[in-house]
Amino acid sequence: MSNYFDSRDFVKLAGNHVQSGKKMPGATLPTFPEQFLWGVATAAYQIEGSPDADGKGKSIWDTYAHIPGKMKNGDTGDVAIDHYRRYKEDVAIMKEMGVNAYRFSISWPRIFPNGVGKPNQKGVDFYSRLVDELLKAGIEPFGTLYHWDLPQALQDKGGWQSRDTAQAFADYASLIAEQLGDRVKHFFTLNELQNFVDMGHRGTEIKVQGKDVRIELAPGLQLSTAQVNQVSHHAVLAHGLAVQSMRAIRPDLLLGPADVLFTGVPIIDTPANVRAAEIATKKYNERFLDVMLTGKYSDSYLQAAGQDAPKFTEADLKAIGSPLDFVGVNIYIPKSYVEASEDAKGFREVPTSLTHPKMGSPWHSFSPEVLYWGPRLMNSLWKPKAIYITENGCAAGDVLTTEGRVLDTDRVMYMRAVMLNLHRAISEAVPVKGNFVWSAFDNLEWTGGFGTRFGLVHVDFKTQKRTPKLSAAWFKEASQRNGIV
Ligand code: NOJ
Repeated sequence: MSNYFDSRDFVKLAGNHVQSGKKMPGATLPTFPEQFLWGVATAAYQIEGSPDADGKGKSIWDTYAHIPGKMKNGDTGDVAIDHYRRYKEDVAIMKEMGVNAYRFSISWPRIFPNGVGKPNQKGVDFYSRLVDELLKAGIEPFGTLYHWDLPQALQDKGGWQSRDTAQAFADYASLIAEQLGDRVKHFFTLNELQNFVDMGHRGTEIKVQGKDVRIELAPGLQLSTAQVNQVSHHAVLAHGLAVQSMRAIRPDLLLGPADVLFTGVPIIDTPANVRAAEIATKKYNERFLDVMLTGKYSDSYLQAAGQDAPKFTEADLKAIGSPLDFVGVNIYIPKSYVEASEDAKGFREVPTSLTHPKMGSPWHSFSPEVLYWGPRLMNSLWKPKAIYITENGCAAGDVLTTEGRVLDTDRVMYMRAVMLNLHRAISEAVPVKGNFVWSAFDNLEWTGGFGTRFGLVHVDFKTQKRTPKLSAAWFKEASQRNGIV
């Protein structure tokens, strides 16, 4: 008689995660490595408010959000979720949710109101208090130095079109290393380079229900391809110079970008399609991750760009390719599903089915397998020492019930699927060390305004009342078990 359904076996197989139940032999529950980080993420402009407090300078978002017609419903980050004043309550909520790592961003114009020059100590003090509060709560702080809020004073001098901005960023980064680096060990340089470069400097078209919709970010410029390529170069240069300047101050810091990974996902799992997905992923990231991780622009990029290629020096490439401790990537969707092709490009993009399911944002196809393929392809392409998933998450049509609950069953479904795919990558020895859910709290979704809710915690934007959603309870359960039941 087989003992397939002997519960004692089940306990043995499942480790200490399950006390009773029935399971086929050989199967194991998805448990994550011991030091795995169950993190959440936010960004300064999306949550802080207090745009003029304690000597803060204006950022390009303070300017842009006040241009009539740019933001949905005229929303701005002037108050946002008032985190600047409520950070203690917010840290307490994260602790209660079982968060063990928090990725927050530092507002450059709080630290340097004019982008350069004399630092504003009161701005530094805010982040210092936040970090102390996190450490007290047993939450590991991960700082992002640039989450899109460039000081307006630097924009007035050319912004990312000017090479000086990259140097100013490195100087700001070294001040942060000096002031916070005794307590914050991990820093991400810049967030989603490809998105703020392209969407901020020429806009990106996406298809929504068959129609082209333009997505724009501040400063909302319309530049030529050559100019945009130069902006990209200054962004990766800023990353490289910051890594160098921070290491010069504190060699023990752990550094990497928090870029967005544009991923090719194989339409079906044939070896030829997997290879095509790898080629596509390298190509999609050639102006950003590829140059940061190889220290050179690919020949195919430079040839295709021709006259529009950026101007750079060998010393720039050396800085850009500075060795990193980890690579952080935000992963939400595939750039494309791809299949093998015989032509010189080596892959062909395949349109997604018209009925492909979607999450709450117009651009968000439900494609959780990208959390497996993204890390796997990064690993085979660039062999990073470690990978952090610096963002994933989804917007949902959250409703606060009369009993005060938010039953975001779709977000729970999404997170289960994401974590299972990530687990698959980890079980194939891809070195993913942690995942940061976007976002801890509902917040200002850039031009999408407050109506696009990404939080695990619901925020009533009128009263500022915080209510953890069903997804927060799911997160707590999973982080406490370090696994999924
Ligand atoms: C990526 C960005 O880094 C973040 O600021 C944004 O809110 C999320 N994606 C969701 O769109």
